[in-house]
Amino acid sequence: MVPLPIFISLVVILIAKWVHKWCHPKSNGTLPPGSMGWPLLGETLHFFASTTSLDIPPFIRQRMEKYGAIFKTSLVGEGVIVSTDADLNYFIFQKEGVLFESWYPYTFTQIFGTNSLLNLHGSVFKYLKNMVLNLVGPESLMTMLPEVEATSNRYLTMWSTQDTVDLKETTAQMIFDLTGKKLISYDSQKSSEDLRGYFEAFIKGLISFPLNFPGTSFHRCLQGRKKAMKMLKDMLEERRQRPRQTQSDFFDYVLKEVERKDTMLTEDIALDLMFVMLFASYETTSVALTLAIKYLSDHPSFLQQLTEEHEAIIKRRENPDSGLSWSEYKSMKFTFQIINETMRLANIAPVIFRKALKDIKFKEYIIPAGWAVMVCPPSVHLDPNTYKHPLEFKPSRWEGVDTHMASRKFMVFGGGLRVCVGADFAKLQMAVFLHCLVTKYKWKAVKGGEIVRSPGLQFPNGYHINVSQI
Ligand code: HEM
Ligand SMILES: *[C@@H]1O[C@H](CO)[C@@H](O)[C@H](O)[C@H]1NC(C)=O
Ligand SMILES: *[C@@H]1O[C@H](CO)[C@@H](O)[C@H](O)[C@H]1NC(C)=O
Ligand SMILES: *[C@@H]1O[C@H](CO)[C@@H](O)[C@H](O)[C@H]1NC(C)=O
Repeated sequence: MVPLPIFISLVVILIAKWVHKWCHPKSNGTLPPGSMGWPLLGETLHFFASTTSLDIPPFIRQRMEKYGAIFKTSLVGEGVIVSTDADLNYFIFQKEGVLFESWYPYTFTQIFGTNSLLNLHGSVFKYLKNMVLNLVGPESLMTMLPEVEATSNRYLTMWSTQDTVDLKETTAQMIFDLTGKKLISYDSQKSSEDLRGYFEAFIKGLISFPLNFPGTSFHRCLQGRKKAMKMLKDMLEERRQRPRQTQSDFFDYVLKEVERKDTMLTEDIALDLMFVMLFASYETTSVALTLAIKYLSDHPSFLQQLTEEHEAIIKRRENPDSGLSWSEYKSMKFTFQIINETMRLANIAPVIFRKALKDIKFKEYIIPAGWAVMVCPPSVHLDPNTYKHPLEFKPSRWEGVDTHMASRKFMVFGGGLRVCVGADFAKLQMAVFLHCLVTKYKWKAVKGGEIVRSPGLQFPNGYHINVSQI
């Protein structure tokens, strides 16, 4: 028997050693400066602290000022190298699969599923990406344009008969209707299950602190995921038992792939894919669209300029009642400036995670193999050296911008191999909706519109507007 005092001292020494190791991780070179915070907890609480500004989150800004553009920290139990440097961010995106690979913290994988696109690599990833591009790639978008226009008009007509609508809520509903139909033929009017309700619970907890027991938002988030996954699974079973005559949605197409002999697609991967697609498609776009319309409400001169662009499109037509054409869509120059400028300020993806596959030297620092790397797009999009008066909404700054700058200084959709597959789809939905809105309707802000970043962008009180026909 070891005497108790000695045992206690041993434990204390072990803990002290472990804490020391935590605070001073080893590496084959100079680690970037920064604090590892508390053991395990790291600096997680500070990272999730919310702010009411669109500016670079204080967590990032304070450390940029103290340590420089590259620093280390620890979040939810992982050592993390944070990059706020445009060149390093670009480098990380370009070296996907070679020096870095897509990786998300354990809590994220619990949320999105271990088989979600975010966690897949190599050939399985390429294969899935091609399937998704089949749905939202340029060719399908061309055929989807009339549908997007019809959906926008349908919702706008409905809103104009109501006193006020919460734009954040209703655009989310509109986009979910559209993508839910494309993906799984989901019809919110007819379905007995409230799929979007499950996603709402899911999203509320997504940017919360990852404590999983009843009562926490993280717990509700996981419950939301569970329910949505169960619904998708039931749907899969039903389609398997009663094969549908015509292949009409993305799920049919995915299931057909699952059945193939030489497929890489398992049922679990397919279900996680559907889940990520349903999620990725609507929350992001509805927040961006709401922010764009808020900026237009606050800047009548830009609204005027936008309205002129869209009225000119209709004037140029032979038949004013014909729908939007692809070339008309492509001609919306000012609209795309509005969209770019909104996306730059929105920073819908406040951080993007990777894992270092090898020891990587960057400037005087080493990024050790196995460490997580966190790319911070906001620090690039709000850098006053690139974007003068970065917090000002100024669409004209996109005038004559060259595409080279676009990839290094504009990463709202990520970059490299993993660039957002839905980017063109999201832009199409935003542009078409704005077209319908400014040509046929006017609106008035009624209440809400406050933003919170924690660190994802949210409208805690919604954004209520009163829409009426012109
Ligand atoms: C304003 C709207 C959107 C924003 C800001 C956005 C942003 C992003 C970003 C930054 C990434 C990269 C994540 C990473 O590198 O780890 C990403 C990936 C992804 N996005 Fe989007 N997205 C938007 C809309 C959409 C839409 C409409 C869809 C679906 C149709 C979609 C589907 C996806 C998927 C499936 C991935 C994973 C791709 C991969 O891992 O390679 N996104 N998105
Ligand atoms: C240092 O590099 C060697 C080989 O290059 C590797 O085996 C070792 O694990 C590295 N040490 C650390 C602390 O990363
Ligand atoms: C919204 O606008 C309609 C007219 O289009 C008006 O009758 C109604 O009172 C307005 N509601 C609010 C809350 O402003
Ligand atoms: C918006 O940004 C993209 C880069 O993602 C760029 O290629 C495009 O030219 C920009 N659009 C406008 C109108 O400046």
